[in-house]
Amino acid sequence: MQKSKSIQVPKPTRYQNAAIDYYTGLTGSYYLHYGYWEPLPSVGEELTLTRMRVAQEAYAAKVMSAIPQGIKTILDVGCGIGGNAIYLTERGFQVEGLAPDALQEERFIKNTNGQVPFYLTRFEDFQQNKSYDLVLFSESSQYIAVDDLAQGAARLLGSGGYLLIADMMRLDGDYKEGIFSNCHVVSELKLALEKAGFELVKDEDISKSIAPTIDLCIDVFQTFGLTTMKYIAELVAIAVPPLHAIGSWAFKRWLDKPIVEGLAARAIFEKHLCYKIQLWRFVGD
Ligand SMILES: C[S@@+](CC[C@H](N)C(=O)[O-])C[C@H]1O[C@@H](n2cnc3c(N)ncnc32)[C@H](O)[C@@H]1O
Repeated sequence: MQKSKSIQVPKPTRYQNAAIDYYTGLTGSYYLHYGYWEPLPSVGEELTLTRMRVAQEAYAAKVMSAIPQGIKTILDVGCGIGGNAIYLTERGFQVEGLAPDALQEERFIKNTNGQVPFYLTRFEDFQQNKSYDLVLFSESSQYIAVDDLAQGAARLLGSGGYLLIADMMRLDGDYKEGIFSNCHVVSELKLALEKAGFELVKDEDISKSIAPTIDLCIDVFQTFGLTTMKYIAELVAIAVPPLHAIGSWAFKRWLDKPIVEGLAARAIFEKHLCYKIQLWRFVGD
């Protein structure tokens, strides 16, 4: 398949892409989502990346089980490196994917053997004349403003078409700053979708079944991330003391707060967020 032309990617998206690239390096999986832990790990059970990969397969099965009968064509928005597209094509759906990252494009094409069309673009800029039976946002809705998401999806669906969203969402608008603050507020997303002509068909909260991934990430970060950083800092302090002084200052200035917040991610999630699978039907405006 022909590779699409490169695009101008905004800085925040480049930060997100870098984080996603780091994450795939850790998991070695074709999926970039949290996974669905079922059964839930028992108290004290060790959380491993191997179990997380099983949870990611289970997530694909769980989310895709919400696809209604009769759907044939699917646009996978924010398709990552192809995990969901592979899952869907293996089950007979005609899938097309889009994402604004050239590295993901390369991996998507490789992982899907060039069999699934890929568009290198932000959803907001996506131009398409044809319509799809279903538009899927698997953990990608949080990157797109609610009105862009709602109006863009409405343009791509015929009347009776479906929108399937699986993502972390904010329970209310009071939580405004911090690691999860780009997630949509449930009520704001609902308002924008209803205004654009969607009606809610299914709404399931799967927060408990994705939360172990947050615990695992914190654990991996503490065990490998912080330990490695400390080791490198000690080496630099021995080899190039002035560089260590600058590094310590920069660390305090820019990294202290995000690290403290990252370690508190589970508590923040439980207080302010939820993870939902929502199926919406486009009934026209
Ligand atoms: C957390 S990953 C989820 C990937 C995949 N859907 C999955 O479930 O494994 C988020 C995806 O959204 C994409 N994304 C970020 N901003 C986007 C935008 N404005 N338009 C479309 N996709 C976007 C990222 O490049 C990435 O592919």
